[in-house]
Amino acid sequence: MRIIYQNALQLTIPALAELQTIAYGGGWTSNPTKLADIFRIQSVDLQQSLVVYDGRKAIGLALLGRRRAHGWLYDFGISPAYRGKGLGTGLLTTATREAAKAGVRDIELDVWEKRDDAIRLYERVGFQHRRTYFNFEATGEQLRLSELDMPPSLRLERGLVEDVIGWYAAARDQPEPCWDRRLPSLLTYGDAQFCTVADAHGPIACMHYVARAAAHHDPNRVRPMFIGLSERAKIEHLRALFCFAARTAFADLATTAFRLALEPETSRLAPILADMGMRMVGKACDMRLIIAQV
Ligand SMILES: CC(C)(COP(=O)(O)OP(=O)(O)OC[C@H]1O[C@@H](n2cnc3c(N)ncnc32)[C@H](O)[C@@H]1OP(=O)(O)O)[C@@H](O)C(=O)NCCC(=O)NCCS
Repeated sequence: MRIIYQNALQLTIPALAELQTIAYGGGWTSNPTKLADIFRIQSVDLQQSLVVYDGRKAIGLALLGRRRAHGWLYDFGISPAYRGKGLGTGLLTTATREAAKAGVRDIELDVWEKRDDAIRLYERVGFQHRRTYFNFEATGEQLRLSELDMPPSLRLERGLVEDVIGWYAAARDQPEPCWDRRLPSLLTYGDAQFCTVADAHGPIACMHYVARAAAHHDPNRVRPMFIGLSERAKIEHLRALFCFAARTAFADLATTAFRLALEPETSRLAPILADMGMRMVGKACDMRLIIAQV
């Protein structure tokens, strides 16, 4: 085998999507339009990302994002026929070394906690488990949103997505959100929406979210990306924001699914979501590689 690494700028986005499909073994199909969105929202840097070749044939890829000195492994894969030969370990070691040369000082990734094989590989390369994320999900029916008796004093309003900036800054005492729920991503989602709940004393809570209509096997869904809570915020205010988002997007409460991914386990929001009736449907590990000065 003649293993060569090249930066991902050499390939078009459709070719990268095809390679991503191949690397996952064909059981899941990547989509160039969605991939281009992800590259933009997650600051994926193709100059910092690598494609691995066996001679002239592309057999794997490591897609890295970058924000200043912070790096992010968005995705990583080796085509099934080439697995178990140390190529995944070699690709990730090379990608992190190249990132270090370019000034990246830490690289993070998230991985489903049950992916023991991937976690072993990340640990081999030097990544360490830093914290745990929770994934929550529930339908409007499970949350009994239609029974919400909204006090007339509460005011729900749509806002500009940029309004999230002040709320985000005010949440500095909270654990840092996962990579694609940080401010640069929040401001980049093309279909993001923003709403607030307030009373006579002022704003109480806000929600930045995307609402996506049913497609394939997915129902209509609301995906909160950032929920800002003032000290006065309670479950009923969160419920009011969820109702507002589902009603304005789909005119439906019961069948809308609410999904909140990668919430840090120690955030103020995590227990509130659980108390509200959101089911914890999975855990993920936030892993970090700290790069020494080179
Ligand atoms: C995860 C993935 C990238 C691993 O790629 P890989 O090329 O098989 O990785 P490696 O060969 O380096 O390591 C796999 C195993 O082979 C072993 N191995 C075999 N020959 C080896 C060699 N010559 N040198 C080093 N390791 C070798 C490794 O020790 C490792 O063993 P372990 O599972 O007991 O830890 C691959 O399974 C994949 O692409 N999966 C689909 C995409 C995916 O899930 N990506 C990760 C998302 S979290």
